[in-house]
Order: sequence, then structure tokens, then C-alpha cells
Amino acid sequence: MEFYEVLEKRRSMRAFHSEPVDQKVIERVFQNALAAPSNCNTQPWYAHVVSGPQLESLRALLPEKFMAGEIELDFPYDGVYEGEFKDRQYASAQALYDALGIERQDKVNRNIAFMRNFTFFDAPHVAFFYLPSGFGIREACDLGMFAQSVMLGLVNEGLGSCPQTALGFHAGTLRQALGIADDRKLMFGLSFGRPLEDAPVNACRTARAGFDDLIQWHTDLA
Ligand SMILES: Cc1cc2nc3c(=O)[nH]c(=O)nc-3n(C[C@H](O)[C@H](O)[C@H](O)COP(=O)(O)O)c2cc1C
Repeated sequence: MEFYEVLEKRRSMRAFHSEPVDQKVIERVFQNALAAPSNCNTQPWYAHVVSGPQLESLRALLPEKFMAGEIELDFPYDGVYEGEFKDRQYASAQALYDALGIERQDKVNRNIAFMRNFTFFDAPHVAFFYLPSGFGIREACDLGMFAQSVMLGLVNEGLGSCPQTALGFHAGTLRQALGIADDRKLMFGLSFGRPLEDAPVNACRTARAGFDDLIQWHTDLA
């Protein structure tokens, strides 16, 4: 696939076919994503990819934990968006609920849609992205570059994914269930697989801010 087509095709997918992806394809995606850049080439990322019975057990466990209010984050979830950032947040939520045919005031169905985060949108695989403990915002950028490389690689293979901060609510549960060491801190998860092309939720399209609003050119001396 042509590179700009890969970039354009990557959108968050929230409905998947249940059949697992060939393990060799998944390995190829993660292997190639290791080429991502990082501060001083530290490569401060760990990915834990979960499939099969272990994934099914998490699919049952996470909604239970969330409903019981058992939430344990490794990183704070306290960003407050104002101004144009708040507008974009609202617009992206609106695009999602419009795709699902859910009215703004329909809290019940909005909650049902949100809860699908914890069943991985029925995806056959999920990858959890971890930062070594003690690392901060600089290294989080590296982890993001690695994760974006994974997402683009998945598109290149005809697959789709959804990055999910919501999965970070279960950092403690996941560390215990997967036997992950305490010195790995969960940033987010990524459900992935072959997207259901005709699922209404996958028709969601989010807008982008204007080129001239975000990119400025500096050439002439003042
Ligand atoms: C780090 C990160 C965390 C995200 N967390 C969630 C999430 O928890 N649940 C969800 O449905 N979408 C989540 N998203 C998807 C965003 O809503 C989506 O990327 C944004 O609206 C732009 O849409 P697009 O990915 O289709 O281009 C997340 C995206 C990123 C990059």
C-alpha cells in the first residue's frame, strides 16, 4: 500500500471479525515497528500482546472490575480540555455517537458503547503498551511513536485497530492477570484485528483542524 494511503486509512476501528490474525502477520507488524525512533535510542517500550483464552478471560474480567469501581491507573487521567481542544473532544464524541445512531442525551446507550472498550470491541487481539517505571513525558513520546508504527503496520496488512486509554483504568488488574512486573507501567491498550467494514461504528469519521492553524512557517528574518 502506498504510504500516504496507509496514513489516510488508519482510523480507529471499533468492531472486528472474531477470527484471529495469522501470528506471523502480527509478528511482522511488531518487528517492523521496532524501527521507531526514541530519545537516545533508549527504546523505552514493552508491548504485551494477548489473544486466545487469555484474552477471553480478560474480556469477562474487565467489565466486572469496571462495574465494581475497581480502577487502578498507572498514569493520571486528569487532562481537562478547554477552548478548541474541548471543541475537538466534543466533535469526536459526536462523530462516534452519530455513527452509532445514539442521541446526545441517551446516557444508557452511550454507556453501553463506552463499556465495549472493556470487551476490546470484540477484537481477537489486544496489545498493551508499557513504559518502564520512572520514565515520563519524554519517553511517553517514544512509546507513542512505537504504537503509531504498529497501527500503521496493521493498516498496511489490511487490518485495523483502536488505541484505548480506557484500558489503562485496569492497569493493576492486567498486571496481575498477565503476570507483568511492577516496573512496567501501562500507558494504553490497542485492540486490533480485521475490521468489520460494514459495522456502523466503523463509519465514524473525525475531522482535523486546519493546516494553517497548526503549521506555521518561519523563513524571513524579522
Ligand atoms: C492514546 C489514545 C487513546 C485513545 N483512547 C481511546 C479509548 O479509550 N476509547 C476509544 O474508543 N478511542 C480512543 N482513542 C481513539 C480516539 O478517539 C481517536 O484516535 C480520535 O477520535 C481520532 O479518530 P481516528 O483515530 O478515527 O482518526 C484513543 C486514541 C489515542 C491516540
